[in-house]
Amino acid sequence: MEGSTPLVPAPRLSERVGADVWLKIEGANPTGSFKDRGMTCAVSAALRDGAEAVICASTGNTAASAAAYAGRAGLRGAVIVPEGKIATGKLAQALVHGAQVIALRGNFDAALTLVRELVQRHPIALVNSVNPFRLEGQKTAAFEIVDELGELDALCIPVGNAGNITAYWKGFKEADGSRPRMLGYQAEGAAPLVHGEPVENPETVASAIRIGNPARWEEAMAAMTESSGAIRAVSDPEILDAYRWLAAHEGVFCEPASASGVAGLLRNGAEGASRIVCVLTGHGLKDPQVALGHAGSVVPCEPDIAAVERAVLGS
Ligand code: F0G
Repeated sequence: MEGSTPLVPAPRLSERVGADVWLKIEGANPTGSFKDRGMTCAVSAALRDGAEAVICASTGNTAASAAAYAGRAGLRGAVIVPEGKIATGKLAQALVHGAQVIALRGNFDAALTLVRELVQRHPIALVNSVNPFRLEGQKTAAFEIVDELGELDALCIPVGNAGNITAYWKGFKEADGSRPRMLGYQAEGAAPLVHGEPVENPETVASAIRIGNPARWEEAMAAMTESSGAIRAVSDPEILDAYRWLAAHEGVFCEPASASGVAGLLRNGAEGASRIVCVLTGHGLKDPQVALGHAGSVVPCEPDIAAVERAVLGS
């Protein structure tokens, strides 16, 4: 089931920044990312409206989610992803759920431009976050946070195509309670909203947010302005540090992009906020390659007790 994800207190992180911090574990959604909240709505609407198929451009998670929900709905699903640039787990998901997986020799922004043109010509429903049903589903995460916490001062959230920050802000406004500062974080090499202009060749280890021209640009800027928030950049090393630190010290394994909000919090501190939520958008198992490439290494060992002792005790 989508949503109702855990909101976990983060004692070590709270201690480091001197404020109460919670982690919203969106990796607990059915396909392992927040996309499911909106995808169930978008695919249901497509089915109701008589679409023959659904399609999306994706850095991976939207593809995995669209593939799963299309399968469930009995619709054909097609996903267009940047060739060689999506995490292995996401690719496996899209394929196993039976979607047509198209590897574009171009980046996410090119893929989105092409699918927008394609759906003008064919009766195929577009399920990227330009689809308003996606935001309606995704805003429910804000409702859950308001229900559980009541007062909240700041929300740290990764920003890629900028649908999720838009959805959260919509949710907080509709919840009519606490309105936190929206603190959006992009990767330094893919930070168009920070630079104020599209980035032609976005690059970052956080492949999920490797996006140079977000579709929800205006809405994200409005969320920032209306909430007295900010959209800022964090470097790849900062993202990877936060990613490893969360796994090692909070016991929470998220994917690299998801750690960008925490990286931002660690860089900027609490900035006067006393209650903060960091949205961890996707599960760490989505991207085993980054985990294996940027964490410790395994210890080989002969099958005898002396060798095992040395390996375990490090003597
Ligand atoms: N975190 C993860 C894990 C994501 O997959 C995405 C976006 C974001 C954050 C950023 O959310 O785009 O709404 O600002 N992934 C999209 C995809 C682009 O195709 O899976 P956003």
